[in-house]
Amino acid sequence: MKLNAEYWQERWTNEQTGWDIGHPNHGLIAEVKSRFPKTSKILIPGAGRGHEAEALWEEGYLNTYVCDWAPEAFESLAKSEVLLRVQREVPPKAGAKTFLTPEEAKSRLIVADFFTLEGSYDLLLEQTFFCAIHPSQRKQYVEQAAHLLKPLGMWMGIFFDCHFPTEGPPFGGDNETYRSLFEKHFEITKLERFEGSIGPRLGKELLGLMHCKSM
Ligand SMILES: C[S@@+](CC[C@H](N)C(=O)[O-])C[C@H]1O[C@@H](n2cnc3c(N)ncnc32)[C@H](O)[C@@H]1O
Repeated sequence: MKLNAEYWQERWTNEQTGWDIGHPNHGLIAEVKSRFPKTSKILIPGAGRGHEAEALWEEGYLNTYVCDWAPEAFESLAKSEVLLRVQREVPPKAGAKTFLTPEEAKSRLIVADFFTLEGSYDLLLEQTFFCAIHPSQRKQYVEQAAHLLKPLGMWMGIFFDCHFPTEGPPFGGDNETYRSLFEKHFEITKLERFEGSIGPRLGKELLGLMHCKSM
């Protein structure tokens, strides 16, 4: 099976999207709010419907970007009420940004291959993208994540803490696997049981928080 853009586009078109929880991962959003200022430049790779991005825009994290290479994934996000609303607010005379111009709003949705992206972010926020790529690409994922982050930028996200009985996606793993993959480029602050998991994933997820080692 080739896990290319066509494969994912077809899954979205045929609505074979069992991974989509249909709402933001509230536990993950709470972690962002407690740790990162609203000015943070955030990238959500393999974002799918982008529920977390909508929640973050709503909270005033207007520098949140989503990337997915299947255009169908962004069908509803492109017309998002939240994204429209943040373009309507009155620009302040000075101080924090409280609105987006239409061009800026458009730029928040990046249809591209994560592995070819360029940019410079404060935070990479991850949910069910890492588990969707083939394990042979994991080393490349870590290098690309480090490449996309500013010096001392952070990676925060959720890993499956289990091995699946059938060939993925999703592809699983465990604490040790993830630690050994990331530690070359990242200082691991936290890699532990995620308490905010949704019901069916309870006890099967790890929350990771790490910052990029300066090169
Ligand atoms: C399992 S889905 C997860 C979507 C979303 N994060 C969620 O939790 O609902 C994985 C997503 O990653 C996207 N994807 C896979 N490989 C990609 C790549 N190399 N570049 C960009 N997006 C990719 C797919 O198109 C798909 O939308």
